[in-house]
Amino acid sequence: MSGCKIINKDVFLVYYLFIANVWGQCNSPPSKPNVVLKDAYEKLNEFPSRTKVVYACAHGYRRTAGLPSITCRNNVWSELTLKCEPKSCGSPGEVLNGHFVFEGADFGDKASVVCDEGYLVAGRDYRVCLDKGWDGQVPVCEVVKCPDPPEIADGEIRNQHSGDVEYNTVVVYQCTKGFLIGSRELVCTLHGNYSSSPPQCKEISCQNPTLPNARKTAGFGPDYKYKDVVSFACNEGFELLGENTVTCEENSEWHPKIPTCIPLKRTCDAPPPPTKKVATLQPGYIAKSEYRPGEQVYYNCKHGFRKDLSKRDYIMCKKDLTWTPLKLRCTRVSCKIPAQIMNRIIGNIRENVGDLMFYSCFDKKKSKYIQCEDSGEWSKPSQCQEWCRKPLPVVLNAKPQISKKVFQKGDRLHYECEPGYTRDVSTLAYVTCNNSKWTGPTLVCSPTG
Ligand SMILES: *[C@@H]1O[C@H](CO)[C@@H](O)[C@H](O)[C@H]1NC(C)=O
Ligand SMILES: *[C@@H]1O[C@H](CO)[C@@H](O)[C@H](O)[C@H]1NC(C)=O
Repeated sequence: MSGCKIINKDVFLVYYLFIANVWGQCNSPPSKPNVVLKDAYEKLNEFPSRTKVVYACAHGYRRTAGLPSITCRNNVWSELTLKCEPKSCGSPGEVLNGHFVFEGADFGDKASVVCDEGYLVAGRDYRVCLDKGWDGQVPVCEVVKCPDPPEIADGEIRNQHSGDVEYNTVVVYQCTKGFLIGSRELVCTLHGNYSSSPPQCKEISCQNPTLPNARKTAGFGPDYKYKDVVSFACNEGFELLGENTVTCEENSEWHPKIPTCIPLKRTCDAPPPPTKKVATLQPGYIAKSEYRPGEQVYYNCKHGFRKDLSKRDYIMCKKDLTWTPLKLRCTRVSCKIPAQIMNRIIGNIRENVGDLMFYSCFDKKKSKYIQCEDSGEWSKPSQCQEWCRKPLPVVLNAKPQISKKVFQKGDRLHYECEPGYTRDVSTLAYVTCNNSKWTGPTLVCSPTG
């Protein structure tokens, strides 16, 4: 039987199978987790008595107890005692500036890398436990880097680095001209950006602040630059409205706003006399001792002027205890000369309110007048008495008896027949002045006898 030892196992198998056919068979060999039949036994279909099959641990597993083979006896397999446990990969390695996080280190397990703050994994951030141990390489945690810090106009970086700017590095700026506005220091954050935008270098100056009724108590200037401070105090009789200290800020303006000094009394002064020559305080205006904010004082136009109704005719006491400006507008009122007396005017033509216009009727001695009234109308002219003028009517053989110089309407002018003539009694001895005309004479004087 020494030859048996060198005979291939397969040859034995074939032999056993032959016997099994005769004596009975086992079913397919049992299966068990993590355990597999060796390749040579996998293809067998017949398991006669005394057949032996050999198992092995599955890929990634190793034997921890039991025997790898079972044998078919009396149509039953002997117990499969082989026990396989997953292979362990041990430590996945040490990560600089980080560490692994994993549940287990056995076959199929995964170990992930967590980098320390400010570090990022370069490449794959995990390892898997395989049959031959952990796959790949120990990952590398690289420090976070920021881009080169930005250059600024009229300024420079005081601690200029050569090479990369790494996490937590502080970049410090300084101005070569003007004032530094913003953050002087920028820190490279763990996001790979800077903690803030770079500062600006600006020339900043504020105007000399003026405050009526006050004096400066600090910051006398007269030139003021960024962050300069001025303090004010109000003069006697005034109180401060606002903050007493202001600072020159980056927009070249004072902040907070320059305060005001307002009189301690909380009223406006007496209303100013009208700035317009033709305006007057309203009729019946009585001066008061106090004018509170919101109070109004009305103005009127002087006699002969009329208010423009579209303009405000009052001033109001403002919160700052000054008056609003007077907007009142007055236009001169004028009268048009009535046509009916146009050709009878004596003297210059006038048209203003209050003006008198003289005129005369036919007797130039007694002049009359009309007056231009506030309404822009002339007073009503009195009717001219109408005068009967020369030449006197001529009556044949008769003489007029002139008793007055002028004859008004209704006056009679008598005639007398010449000597040697006698009035015909059926005729009238007079003519009558009627609307500047004499009535036609009817008198007839006939020779006496
Ligand atoms: C930096 O980046 C982070 C994440 O993207 C963002 O939330 C943050 O606002 C950035 N910081 C600045 C100053 O831009
Ligand atoms: C006076 O004159 C008017 C017309 O101008 C005439 O109608 C009237 O009759 C006259 N009267 C007399 C009394 O003659």
